[in-house]
Amino acid sequence: MDCLRPMPDNLEYYENVPPQELQKLSINAGLETCPDLEMIHPLIDNAKKILEIGGGYGRTIDFLIKNNFKGLVDIIEPTDNFHAFLQNKYPHQFNIFKELIQDFTPPSQYDLILWLWSNVVEFSPLMLKKIFKKLCLALEKNGVLVIETMREHIDPVGLEYKTAKTSLTRLQHGTLKSFNYTKNNIITLAQKSGLKILEIQDYALSSGRLRTLMLLTQAHTPI
Ligand SMILES: C[S@@+](CC[C@H](N)C(=O)[O-])C[C@H]1O[C@@H](n2cnc3c(N)ncnc32)[C@H](O)[C@@H]1O
Repeated sequence: MDCLRPMPDNLEYYENVPPQELQKLSINAGLETCPDLEMIHPLIDNAKKILEIGGGYGRTIDFLIKNNFKGLVDIIEPTDNFHAFLQNKYPHQFNIFKELIQDFTPPSQYDLILWLWSNVVEFSPLMLKKIFKKLCLALEKNGVLVIETMREHIDPVGLEYKTAKTSLTRLQHGTLKSFNYTKNNIITLAQKSGLKILEIQDYALSSGRLRTLMLLTQAHTPI
């Protein structure tokens, strides 16, 4: 069943998991060293305005600070849990919007929109198409949307239950539902939303987990 509302149980998970525990998951996965962000270093260097969807414990923000990024950074983080953590960790430097991406009205246009660490697969196809349309319009001319997620046909860590279309993962602090997207599923939804693929890079984390990084841009400049 497709539905337009966010999956509340996933938000429940993100409300429950302590930031330090999410960081441990990132360390175990091999994401903590930011191989995904290293791959798009030139895009970051050339960007003036960056939007991150889902700030988590600040992995991306720390990378930007470490690399001396001087532009504008907006972050969307809907949970009380991570929003409070980020506000406390970075009290002044960034705009941290406590909103769901579904409900977010971008206040600006961005050179780079970062949607990393598999959050994209937590949305139904119908919802994803709506979000892609919004993000397409939120890109500056020649702006890039970066999606980073698990490789197609690879089961998420902690998989408990799988149907043809969805998977349920059990982790220490709750469960996460995800959709079993192939690259083509994502490309088709993106194309229907006014985006086109610039590049797709398959890569592996130091843990051996297989991942995919997709770079997308506007298919046509909106009038
Ligand atoms: C796996 S973490 C990724 C954190 C960070 N982007 C990174 O790569 O390290 C997913 C993040 O997305 C947030 N999130 C979950 N659902 C969201 C939604 N509907 N809109 C925006 N952010 C969401 C979670 O609260 C969490 O902070």
